[in-house]
Amino acid sequence: MKVTARAPGKIILIGEHFVVYGKPAVVMAINRYVQVTVEDRNDHSLHISSNLGIEGTFVKETYKPIKGIANKRILEPIKISAETALNALKEKRGLNITIQSRIPMAVGLGSSGALAVALVSAIGKLLGKKFTNEEIIALSTEAEKFVHIFPSGIDQAISTWGEVLIFKKKEDFTRLEVASDIPLVIGNTGIIRNTGKMVSSVRRKQVKFPEIMNSVINAAGHLSQKSIDALKNNDLFRLGELMDINHGLLMTLGVSHEALDKLVYAAKKNGALGAKLTGAGGGGCMIALTTLEKREKVFGAIHKAGGIPIIAEKAHRGVYCWIDD
Ligand code: PMV
Repeated sequence: MKVTARAPGKIILIGEHFVVYGKPAVVMAINRYVQVTVEDRNDHSLHISSNLGIEGTFVKETYKPIKGIANKRILEPIKISAETALNALKEKRGLNITIQSRIPMAVGLGSSGALAVALVSAIGKLLGKKFTNEEIIALSTEAEKFVHIFPSGIDQAISTWGEVLIFKKKEDFTRLEVASDIPLVIGNTGIIRNTGKMVSSVRRKQVKFPEIMNSVINAAGHLSQKSIDALKNNDLFRLGELMDINHGLLMTLGVSHEALDKLVYAAKKNGALGAKLTGAGGGGCMIALTTLEKREKVFGAIHKAGGIPIIAEKAHRGVYCWIDD
């Protein structure tokens, strides 16, 4: 039997970094997915192959590369997720794991979280157990600890639940019902960055200038609340304005980047309702909120300004699995 699971990536609509200081962030699942297929093997090894051209096998702790870069570290989180799910089910067995990802890696779109969530869910179904959402989040967070050291769990939660979540702090989130579509164009700078380093740079600034930075953090808390109200009222024009202010506050923290600012300005000049960096910053991606009419124009402007544009919408479903044969 083969089982496939599909989990969405994410963008942070409002409140990244400030969430580390206890202010709410709003995170949205996007219609870009990681798909993972699992099937039993006759031995106890884990064979992993992906559409990114990487293929290899783990036999216990030894990694044997077959194709692509011989980098054990890249595939290690996949092994951790698989073993965590198998251990939770008190099973020891080998698996073929095939990954199809349409989420760019290491640019803040939640690719590793979505992969872990999909893999854990697929293994559960293969072994006849439907993990609860809480179990999926807990089991998939193990691999994220390897990737991010102190993961907030935001990526696993949104990939599991789908839609929109208000995230307060570690493991403290609520669902936010948003009736309207949220048409976005994501602009990927292609610059890979490290979330942990960006979070530490903000901490240094906050320690150096506490009076200034604490005021910025408090302003961000008010901004998140107003944005949540705007979303509840389906007021995308107001949300856009608040996103612009949010980008300004993130610039104040020092986490933007010339390439991100260029894409933000290009999007705004071409009719975006609002635009901001998304995720840790320092590279990675920005998002532009648009009307459906202006979306193509904003897409073109981001491309012209040197970004890789991606049309994105809210993903209504979180992770789900099916039996292949
Ligand atoms: O770029 P990402 O998806 O890793 O987002 C990081 C979000 C931060 O608020 C900067 C950190 C966190 O753990 O919440």
